[in-house]
Amino acid sequence: MAISISLTVNGAPISASIDPGTLLVQFLRDQLRLTGTHVGCDTAQCGACTVHLNGRAIKSCNILAVQAEGAEITTIEGLAKDGALHPMQAAFRHCHGLQCGFCTPGMVMSAVSLVQRQPNLTGDDVRAQLDGNLCRCTGYHNIVKAVLEGAEGMNSAGSANAAANASSQADAQATAPATA
Ligand code: FES
Ligand code: FES
Repeated sequence: MAISISLTVNGAPISASIDPGTLLVQFLRDQLRLTGTHVGCDTAQCGACTVHLNGRAIKSCNILAVQAEGAEITTIEGLAKDGALHPMQAAFRHCHGLQCGFCTPGMVMSAVSLVQRQPNLTGDDVRAQLDGNLCRCTGYHNIVKAVLEGAEGMNSAGSANAAANASSQADAQATAPATA
């Protein structure tokens, strides 16, 4: 018996009818054709299927799609904005943080979530915190470099956004009609 679910995926509202046993990763890949989310093990070990659920990294092979009812999901396809790579994607490209690329979407999604939780990272932090993401090409050295560079990019983009917000608030105050 099919069941209906509604959720938001990469900012778009989605309603669908699915088999209740459908895993979230199957729903994303097979039904929505968002194939950037990979399946490496199907047993919650490799992290290739990592997406964000309400802003937190989760392994989408480890939950049912119905458990995401009402949630906001972001996949690797939802990270770039207006044609510009997310700072973490740009850092993986710049640092050559990939070889075959199979683990890369999951690595990037985990790294973005990690930096959001812990903006100031050391290499040891990255190694410890991303231990749930496996790279079968074993190129971990450049992955760690990429995550550190991506963290810098995310932190400066955050500062730039804060500065832009402060500036537009100042502009708004400067141009607001005097009420006194
Ligand atoms: S496919 Fe989900 S953790 Fe490996
Ligand atoms: S780059 Fe090949 S699995 Fe990580």
